[in-house]
Amino acid sequence: MNVLVTGGAGFIGQHLCRALYARGDSVRVLDNFDHAYDPALKQAPPFAEVVRGDVCDPAVVRDCLQDIDAVCHLAARAGVRESIEDPEPYGRVNVGGTLTLLRGMADRGVRRMVFASSSSVYGNAGGPSSESDPADRPASPYAASKRAAELFCFASGLDVTAARLFTVYGPGQRPGMAIARFVQLARAGKHIPVYGDGTSQRDYTYVSDIVSGLLLGLDRAQGFRIVNLGGGKPVVLTEMLAAVADATGRQLRVSWLPVQPGDVPLTHADIGLARTWLGWRPTVPFREGMMRYVASL
Ligand SMILES: NC(=O)c1ccc[n+]([C@@H]2O[C@H](COP(=O)([O-])OP(=O)(O)OC[C@H]3O[C@@H](n4cnc5c(N)ncnc54)[C@H](O)[C@@H]3O)[C@@H](O)[C@H]2O)c1
Repeated sequence: MNVLVTGGAGFIGQHLCRALYARGDSVRVLDNFDHAYDPALKQAPPFAEVVRGDVCDPAVVRDCLQDIDAVCHLAARAGVRESIEDPEPYGRVNVGGTLTLLRGMADRGVRRMVFASSSSVYGNAGGPSSESDPADRPASPYAASKRAAELFCFASGLDVTAARLFTVYGPGQRPGMAIARFVQLARAGKHIPVYGDGTSQRDYTYVSDIVSGLLLGLDRAQGFRIVNLGGGKPVVLTEMLAAVADATGRQLRVSWLPVQPGDVPLTHADIGLARTWLGWRPTVPFREGMMRYVASL
């Protein structure tokens, strides 16, 4: 199969491209190597055809879709807190870029896509969150953009699996994400600023598990369907800090700060549908994933 991966040079995209290639698919990447974080950390996979371009540009998207059988749509501005400070690119790229891609697919007769949506669409709902729960109270522009993009996917009439990813971590993860920052500061022996009182919980999901779920979601896409991909076992922030200390072998110097706007106290995936529909389950326990991540640095 010829697969277009938008955002294929980013954290999850690099892992996904490798998995597609390993199973025999031809991979084309569309990525603009944006400056949301250091572009030197992004990698164009050597086995892929790489187009440096913008998913918001209809002509670029149309060219990229030539001879393509299926699309993995990961290109986006990520990051909850950043979206509160500067929401504009989230609307332009996450919503507008998705719409441009869907229109290009319809024009080219490409029907199948897996879309990287986000657990953030559940807002402050608590958990465990299932796909049928309301998702109309986003706590940030990022969450709103992902929900809006899902709705455009639905309205397209194409075969789209919208995979709601729960905090993804692992080798190559974005430097702004909590685990990456904490590990880097711990290794440097510096103070770690931590927001909240330590009781918040995140349903961390190791990147290889996300990749296997995205591939299944792509292969099974028929009509529009939403599916959660999450570890299914939320980790309390203090446990995460302990895992950082263990994996780095450092004693942490933590400075506690007030909760940040947009932060939700809990994410917890109900992964029943992923199990029954896709036959998917997460395989990498959090502590092991942390050891693998730190070993990769
Ligand atoms: N990492 C997570 O925990 C997480 C959780 C939920 C959802 N997601 C979603 O998964 C996807 C991948 O996330 P990631 O963590 O790998 O982020 P990332 O920032 O590493 O990857 C996104 C990629 O998209 C590219 N991009 C951005 N704007 C573009 C544009 N206009 N045109 C073309 N390319 C563009 C970037 O250069 C980058 O390589 C994103 O859609 C993100 O919202 C990630």
